[in-house]
Amino acid sequence: MTRTAVVTGASSGIGKATARALAADGYRVVLAARRGDKLAGIAEEFGGVAVTCDVTNEEDVARLAAAAGDDVAVVVNNAGGALGLEPVADAALDKWRQMYETNVIGMVAVTKALMPALRAGGGGSIVTVTSIAADGAYEKGAGYCGVKAAERYASDALRLELNGEPIRVCDIAPGLVESEGFSLVRFDGDEEKAAAVYEGVENPLTEEDVAECIRWVVSLPAHVNIDRLTVKPVAQAAPHKMARTS
Ligand SMILES: NC(=O)c1ccc[n+]([C@@H]2O[C@H](COP(=O)([O-])OP(=O)(O)OC[C@H]3O[C@@H](n4cnc5c(N)ncnc54)[C@H](OP(=O)(O)O)[C@@H]3O)[C@@H](O)[C@H]2O)c1
Repeated sequence: MTRTAVVTGASSGIGKATARALAADGYRVVLAARRGDKLAGIAEEFGGVAVTCDVTNEEDVARLAAAAGDDVAVVVNNAGGALGLEPVADAALDKWRQMYETNVIGMVAVTKALMPALRAGGGGSIVTVTSIAADGAYEKGAGYCGVKAAERYASDALRLELNGEPIRVCDIAPGLVESEGFSLVRFDGDEEKAAAVYEGVENPLTEEDVAECIRWVVSLPAHVNIDRLTVKPVAQAAPHKMARTS
């Protein structure tokens, strides 16, 4: 029987690649994001179900759960990202609020809404895309590091709470990924600033690299839980240690 995988933030980047990878593995994929047109185009490629959904909006999340149905095998909490890069002293509070709402509250809201269908279907996987930003703070990154750490803690608590149930809880923590939108969104559409993030880095991760990690953790035998998978490009030894040719 075809089981369902729900991927948030599937209109772009890692989520889009993950939706494709899970569809190729035979799941009925339900895709969620705010940009309905983009989402519909991607869903059409493989007969997925596109749900225009802002994960910060409870009614949207309820619609997403309804579209997912009552047999959900995989939930990929991927919607999110960084907004800005500034010192705490200059923090843009509206951007911080939006980061918390999208990354943290969105992750919790979607997980909560889909839990009955995960349980009804006999179990499955909850995968959250955090970041190596959750490993420790970096200058000007307090807002983003904080939300990713909060997602990690929610994920860790969930694993404890679900102990004894057949639901695995995985934290995928990527380093530098040259994805479609991440840096453009972070820098409010400034293409020059966005490009500088990857300048001189030989082979940053691609969105497909991260999608493959997600596909792999959910494809393992049901008793195997990859708690956390940290994945970085070889050129990135640590968040602050990046080999650049220029
Ligand atoms: N790129 C990196 O270097 C990197 C590294 C580590 C972790 N990550 C994490 O990976 C995840 C995906 O990022 P990405 O690199 O693939 O960036 P991306 O290309 O910008 O994709 C972000 C996705 O999130 C969706 N989204 C944003 N706000 C949303 C909301 N309120 N409701 C529903 N969907 C929303 C966007 O869709 P709409 O705009 O259509 O809503 C988009 O599909 C994020 O959680 C990010 O923090 C990225």
